[in-house]
Amino acid sequence: MYERPEVEKLQRALNKMQAYQEDLLGSLQDGLVVVDRQLRVTFLNPAAEELLGISGATADGKPLASLLGDSSPLIPLVARAFETGRAHAEHEASVLNPRGKISVSAVASLLADHSGETRGGVLLLRDLTRIRELEDQVRRAERLTAIGTLVAGIAHEIRNPLMGVRGATQLLQAESSFPPALKEYTDVVIREVDRLNSLVEGMLAFAQPSPPRLVECNVNQIMEEILALEEPVLVRRGITVRRIYDPQIPPIAADPDQIRQVFLNLIRNGAEAMERGGELTVESAYERRSPRCFGLSVAVVKVIDQGPGLSPEARERLFDPFFTTKPTGTGLGLAICHRIVGDHRGSIEVADAEEGGCAATVLLPLGSQ
Ligand SMILES: Nc1ncnc2c1ncn2[C@@H]1O[C@H](COP(=O)(O)OP(=O)(O)O)[C@@H](O)[C@H]1O
Ligand SMILES: [Mg+2]
Repeated sequence: MYERPEVEKLQRALNKMQAYQEDLLGSLQDGLVVVDRQLRVTFLNPAAEELLGISGATADGKPLASLLGDSSPLIPLVARAFETGRAHAEHEASVLNPRGKISVSAVASLLADHSGETRGGVLLLRDLTRIRELEDQVRRAERLTAIGTLVAGIAHEIRNPLMGVRGATQLLQAESSFPPALKEYTDVVIREVDRLNSLVEGMLAFAQPSPPRLVECNVNQIMEEILALEEPVLVRRGITVRRIYDPQIPPIAADPDQIRQVFLNLIRNGAEAMERGGELTVESAYERRSPRCFGLSVAVVKVIDQGPGLSPEARERLFDPFFTTKPTGTGLGLAICHRIVGDHRGSIEVADAEEGGCAATVLLPLGSQ
């Protein structure tokens, strides 16, 4: 007979072991399915429950085939592990869950007890969706690089003759014999050349990004520089600026030139959205260990306008290069923002604001982390 305190001590040790085991299986990212020799399910960890869309309690005692489907290649995989006594892997198979087909990689192996006796089998499932997404991203980036090289080449070729056309037109206007009645037309030439030039500049910035040269800088200060630069345009459009800065905000590690470009594009979009004037709000704050940004501590900068908000099409395609709903837009502003913020390991979101209008939110990692 054990004494009561000893029993309690044992119980506590057992509980601790159980909790440890549960934590271990619970924190495993891969799905773990345990079956007995008859291929009946005896255990699912939380990742497997999520992946297969069934709770452990419901699955308990059910044939593996009823979870995976009779024709699933994973059933013979487990059977083979039993036959050969070795682990077998399948690089890509799909499993069905209530949300649809999910592609997984799988390893089946034996579950033996300490005496070496086979107790059952273990099927380890890894969700490949996230990996496929990353592969897609890489492919997209590669495609953009290829397009970028081409675009940069063409843009350089276009820029010089454009400047030639602009210069010659100005000279023409300055001629004493230039008929003033024709100025209307030469102004069109200059205006259109300027528009083409800003398109080419944008294409170059987008196609040939330079890696950010990180220094510590203050977002409030950068925003103020941009607002000072844009002030004449804002005043002309009847736009007032409301500033809600956190003065205590720690410095970010960023390339100030590039961040200036981001803020400028956002301020311009805000201003362009408010055709009849209004209030443009700029905000700064910081967030420790942001779950929205890889757990990094970040500066959060918002630009909120009182325009009509996003059109349904814009909502889908905001960051696509050359997507624009404006007659003279380039559609490169947000694509450039997205690229720069991404290069800084930050994130950007543009969405309808709660109070109407549109809100752009930029997260930029703070320095020294
Ligand atoms: N503040 C905003 N309010 C409403 N729509 C916006 C706003 N910012 C961006 N958009 C939409 O996203 C599109 C793409 O923006 P952007 O990449 O900056 O290119 P551009 O400004 O040259 O059109 C815009 O044409 C517009 O439809
Ligand atoms: Mg823009």
